[in-house]
Amino acid sequence: MSKHALSAAVKSGAADAASLIRRHLSPAVASNSNFIAERASGSYIYSTDGQKHLDMAAGIGVVSTGHCHPKVVKAIQDQAASLIHTQQNIFAASTPMVGLIDRLLTIAPPSLTRFFFANSGSEAVDNAIKIARGHTKRQNIICFENSFHGRTYGSMALTTSKTYYRQGFAPLMPQVVVAPYPYCLHCKVREAHPDGDSWYKIQPNVKPYDPYEARGCCNAPIDALKWILKQQSAPVDTAAIIIEPIMGEGGFLTPPPSFIPALRKICDEHGILLIIDEVQAGVGRTGKWWGHQHVSGEAVEPDIMIFAKGIASGFPFAGLAVRENMFEGLASGTMGGTYGAAPLACATACATLDVIKEEKLLDNATARGRQLVKGLLDLTGKYPIIDIRGRGLMCAAEFGGKDGMSAEPGVAAAVTKAAGKRNMLLLTAGARETVRFLPPLTVSSSEIDEALHIFGESLEEVFGSSAAQLKAA
Ligand SMILES: Cc1ncc(COP(=O)(O)O)c(C=O)c1O
Repeated sequence: MSKHALSAAVKSGAADAASLIRRHLSPAVASNSNFIAERASGSYIYSTDGQKHLDMAAGIGVVSTGHCHPKVVKAIQDQAASLIHTQQNIFAASTPMVGLIDRLLTIAPPSLTRFFFANSGSEAVDNAIKIARGHTKRQNIICFENSFHGRTYGSMALTTSKTYYRQGFAPLMPQVVVAPYPYCLHCKVREAHPDGDSWYKIQPNVKPYDPYEARGCCNAPIDALKWILKQQSAPVDTAAIIIEPIMGEGGFLTPPPSFIPALRKICDEHGILLIIDEVQAGVGRTGKWWGHQHVSGEAVEPDIMIFAKGIASGFPFAGLAVRENMFEGLASGTMGGTYGAAPLACATACATLDVIKEEKLLDNATARGRQLVKGLLDLTGKYPIIDIRGRGLMCAAEFGGKDGMSAEPGVAAAVTKAAGKRNMLLLTAGARETVRFLPPLTVSSSEIDEALHIFGESLEEVFGSSAAQLKAA
């Protein structure tokens, strides 16, 4: 291949440009489309073929302030012109890092006053495991069914949302125990209970719709966890319980508001650390700064909180906020990394947090989330949507099949493909048939309307009468 032949193929608009490029990339990285992204602004990405795509994925919940927000761009430009790299062992801190700690102290749960910075969610999860084991001198970590914590060896061992994240990669990190997570829609205990139907169902006439208001729970997952501590993982061997406040990759499963407080209580009883992975649900995505803040009763604080994605508007950055005493037991030098806490990343995170505050994006996430849920509810009568869940701008719809049967495998992917044909970027989630909406927190009311319109057309293509005719033919 001649020099720069790939760039020439893109420039000339060659139809097979994407497949030519992908020949040089790992086929183990799945790709949903053949578009080549060129530039972006707000809620739209433009590809090299001149098409404009409405972004309901936001790079998997990353571009919180919208694509290329002018204040974020300016912060990156200014920082790049003054200090790009220091390395955290060589300097005590950098000025952008100081600014970031100041900001985090105002939004993190009050007892989490120490921070560690890394480059990706998975790396932060691995460090949380190290802290939990180092601090407690215990080995076991309890994670949950349907969880996704990352792709490194440590975080992958805690990931159970789909087998393909782990298949062929054993031996995995040992001493991991998997507990059931509340998936209320498919909960057998709820189904069998005489009042079970009133605990959880789509209620199209309740507006504004809050699927979790006054929601009942059978407590089966909490009971199961108590048995796990009696039968599989003795409390004296259990370092931590790690949980996503809303399962992201696992299907936007949203626990009843009593679930995380119940976990906190169990952890306190046994000296087990509670690690909350806010990588996908955090930084305003759900309408509060942190997804675990949607609980019933008194606020619950984790011992270790993990954040990434939305914290830096797309710049690779992640971190941990931990209780004051958590690093006790870890010797100097046991944590670190070449790029962690890089000045450019810290400056981007500062600008991101400022924009979220100045533009009241938590309120926007709540309002636009309600609008999205209402629009999805309006589609439930016509198409086989059996659940709408999530909070704020972390919102999903699950599909069912005919007569209470499971949905046909692949329908969620077919819907996202149909949306893609109409230039809307949408993602599936979980092992069942679910699509998820994760737009930028800056998304406008008209953009949500546009998304709902395209979604309706996509559902019609997959489930509508024309789809049925096509199948029959
Ligand atoms: C909840 C959660 N934790 C951890 C990760 C891993 O983050 P990263 O892909 O940055 O390694 C993800 C990624 O999707 C996630 O959603």
